[in-house]
Order: sequence, then structure tokens, then C-alpha cells
Amino acid sequence: MRSEKMRRIGRVCAGLGLMAGAIALCGAGDAAGDKPKFTVKEVMEKAHKGKTSLAKTAIDGKATKEELTQLLEFYQSMAMQKPEKGDLADWNARNKALVGSTQEMLDGDKAGLPAYKKAVDCKACHKLHKED
Ligand code: HEC
Repeated sequence: MRSEKMRRIGRVCAGLGLMAGAIALCGAGDAAGDKPKFTVKEVMEKAHKGKTSLAKTAIDGKATKEELTQLLEFYQSMAMQKPEKGDLADWNARNKALVGSTQEMLDGDKAGLPAYKKAVDCKACHKLHKED
């Protein structure tokens, strides 16, 4: 049971590859730089909340490189942390999709925006991972 869970976490970590968040999450490296800069709550308030949020700007395809860089930093912070509740593998997959698609938008990859719109599913994530 326990080893099955460990294997699953191991796979997720391997899948996340080079992401700094994954490294911190998997317990390798304890340098200050590996610590999340923002709590999940801060990420929500700074990146998601409101009609003119970074997320909204990005969804509209209007985010500048600076804004996307900022957004990426928020998601990398979020990816290093654990959710209030719910399955960690699901949480990691959602964060991986957010980080990956934001990186693609930053790189000018056309696949990034549709992938981001799908990844930034407020309700789905809150239902599974946010306490009421
Ligand atoms: C990957 C999962 C995930 C996604 C996607 C997500 N959220 Fe959240 N959100 C959370 C979690 C977890 C919390 C609880 C954080 C806490 O209080 O520590 C939260 C909390 C919040 C809060 C409350 C913050 C506070 O002050 O307590 C707001 C507002 C919010 N989210 C807005 C949004 C909006 C708007 C979107 C979509 C654009 C969104 N979130 C997408 C996971 C997510």
C-alpha cells in the first residue's frame, strides 16, 4: 500500500522532470532557492482573483512576457506545495499543466493558450483541493 503510493509519487516526480518545484517536493535539495516564494493563497490572490487578474489577461491572450514570467513564478511556487485536501497526484498533474502551458505561452508556442485555458479550471481544482 505504502510502497504503491511511493511509486506513484516517484512517477509523478520523474514526470515533472527538471521543474524546481518537483525537486523541492521530492525532498532533494534544501537550498533557500527551492522554497516557494508565495503560499497557495497568495498565488490565488495575486494571479487569479478578480476581473483583471493575470490569469484573465493570459486567457484573453493579452499577457506580456513580463506578466507571463510572473505567472510562471506563481505557478512554480504553487507546484512546490501541497493542497489543503485531495489527491496529491491530481494536484501535481494540475500544477504541472499550469506550469507547462504558461511556459509554452512564454515561449510563444501556440499550443500554450488552449492548454492553459484547460489547466486553469478554477472550479474543478477548488472542488477537489480547496477547503470550503
Ligand atoms: C490547481 C488548483 C487551483 C486552480 C486551478 C485554481 N485554484 Fe483557487 N484555490 C486553490 C486552493 C488549494 C485554494 C485554497 C488556498 C488556501 O486558502 O490556502 C484556493 C483559493 C482561492 C481563493 C481564496 C483565496 C483566499 O483569500 O483564501 C480564490 C479567490 C481563488 N482560489 C480564486 C481562483 C480563481 C479565480 C481561479 C481560476 C482563474 C482559481 N482560483 C484556480 C486551488 C486552485
